[in-house]
Amino acid sequence: MTSNESGKEQKKKMEYKIRKTEASDVPEILRLVKELAKFEEMEDQVILTEKELLEDGFGDTPFYHCFVAEIQGENSSDDLKVVGFVMYYFTYDPWVGKQLYLEDFYVMEEYRGMGIGSELLRHLSDLAMKTRCTGMMFVVAENNEPSVQYYKRRGAEDLSQEEGWRLFRFDKDSLVKLGTPAEE
Ligand code: COA
Repeated sequence: MTSNESGKEQKKKMEYKIRKTEASDVPEILRLVKELAKFEEMEDQVILTEKELLEDGFGDTPFYHCFVAEIQGENSSDDLKVVGFVMYYFTYDPWVGKQLYLEDFYVMEEYRGMGIGSELLRHLSDLAMKTRCTGMMFVVAENNEPSVQYYKRRGAEDLSQEEGWRLFRFDKDSLVKLGTPAEE
């Protein structure tokens, strides 16, 4: 057995737990958001702070929700360590109704390949069934081929390719212009 294989064996034995996040998880959520942005080589674009994440996710109207994956350290006295997460929210499609939107999906590199990602997606699937959502939408960077294949292996359709949709955005300046009356 190579040292790599024995490492993988060891990883498989690690126990993990998936749970919904609480306000006290905000620092860890931000850490994982930043790690994923770094993986996507866009870390400098994360301007959100813990304060905003706390207000937006745990106020009267939560704008996002997360599940995290936690690993127990080697000794039972060790603290639990957050090693992965999904961030999602609900959207609405006027043709078919409620949908989940998968915003962020990330597992720390050393904990990948243990099934944590699949388990996080299973929690989203359960939630979608319970809330009678008709699907789950998400965007994948074109150059993230491993993830494109990861989703396709699990049955996801590439709508840009199959239906020709294009992703658009009004940035803040454009929005301000939209709200400004045209000069006479
Ligand atoms: N590292 C990564 N993948 C491995 C692996 C390893 N050491 N060992 C095996 N794999 C394979 C598994 O065989 C499995 O393939 P499958 O589709 O045949 O099941 C897959 O990679 C990993 O599955 P799983 O263990 O369920 O998921 P994960 O916990 O590794 O998490 C991601 C999956 C996508 C969340 C994780 O790879 C990740 O964080 N990637 C970087 C960030 C990213 O691209 N996020 C998605 C943005 S759209």
